Amino acid sequence: MVQLGAHFALSVAELKTCCTVLQTDERMGLALVGDLRIKNPRGLPQKPEQLFLNRLGGTQRIASVLGVFHEMAAAQAAVVDELKTESREHTFQLAVSGFGVDRKAVKLLLEGVKKGSRLTIKRANGDGGSITTGRLFRDKILKKGADFMLWKLGGEVLVARTKAIQNIRNYTLRDRQKPFRDAHMGMLPPKLAQILINLSKPKSDDAIIDPFCGSGTISIEAAIMGYRTHGSDIAPERVTGAQANNTFLSEKFRYDHGAVKFITADATQLKYQKMAGVIATEGWLGHNFAAAPTDRQSEKTLLDVIAMWHKALPEMAKGQIHTIALCLPVHQIRGRNRSISEKIFALADRLGYAPVALFGSRKSYVYARDGAYTSREIIVLKKGHSPG
Ligand SMILES: C[S@@+](CC[C@H](N)C(=O)[O-])C[C@H]1O[C@@H](n2cnc3c(N)ncnc32)[C@H](O)[C@@H]1O
Repeated sequence: MVQLGAHFALSVAELKTCCTVLQTDERMGLALVGDLRIKNPRGLPQKPEQLFLNRLGGTQRIASVLGVFHEMAAAQAAVVDELKTESREHTFQLAVSGFGVDRKAVKLLLEGVKKGSRLTIKRANGDGGSITTGRLFRDKILKKGADFMLWKLGGEVLVARTKAIQNIRNYTLRDRQKPFRDAHMGMLPPKLAQILINLSKPKSDDAIIDPFCGSGTISIEAAIMGYRTHGSDIAPERVTGAQANNTFLSEKFRYDHGAVKFITADATQLKYQKMAGVIATEGWLGHNFAAAPTDRQSEKTLLDVIAMWHKALPEMAKGQIHTIALCLPVHQIRGRNRSISEKIFALADRLGYAPVALFGSRKSYVYARDGAYTSREIIVLKKGHSPG
């Protein structure tokens, strides 16, 4: 069972690339999954669940299911039973979160487990209120004890024990503490970079190519995941900055610095013929507006971006690139999203690429951020693929 981040449909699409999604509950932000394909290409000394989670930008918490119960008393007994083999040496931190299960019932279960267990238990959320993954991480609850999730499914309650949570400190380090940052250009959050890489479904020997690399986020995330990668950008100062980020982060995350190559190049003129693998890129989003764009400003920048893709995509199609995951700009004008994805789909079609319907029946996902005038519309194009 997994708990997903704020962008539910996007996170589900990402999950589907590396496990079977059996059931989803958008309101609760949860999914039941099976058949996890866990990779450890860098031979990292981590638990399988943590390895799995660390590769996913959209999943916050992974838990293993203990059972599904009709009565809360039976759910409580299952938690007590699960704790039977825990060491009694230290005070045991216990957290329980309810999803669709009310606070009072969680509070009662926590009290019951405290009484029924042979451990000395300190309740992390004695009031029964839900506990965030941020708090679980900061308070090291999985190290000092355990976290359980209760998910109301019809008339029953599913009980699961958390096995791994997102490492917030590592994401912050990769996002905020790298030496080169350029707020004006706008940088991709590392979690979204991971999602784009996963949506492009690379094979283990594929290169991950980002022809609009900026500060290098996607290439660096790809290297952390164990892929070879090349990034390029038209702006030489950004390529220098991306290299500095690679030097800094390859030391922090102990990946092969040489797995990442950055060069200065125009994405419309790269020698894609010599490349094999996938393209995962944020792309160029046009003018970065500091205030809401007028109709004319919006139209002009969207036309510029379309023109750029008309040059770049035919070049990309000359390479051995099986999938292209990219972002397109979307502007909100008078409450409506102004999108260029249909124009890009038509262009891609002429080049033998078709959009993948990753988001239910939808072929794109608009990733909007508060206060930003340009949103990112995520699309995935697959060579020789027919949509559906
Ligand atoms: C939205 S930024 C990418 C930011 C990047 N994903 C990051 O996390 O730092 C778009 C980048 O595209 C680059 N760019 C614009 N036109 C380009 C072109 N024709 N060829 C290559 N890069 C280009 C810009 O210099 C900019 O760095």
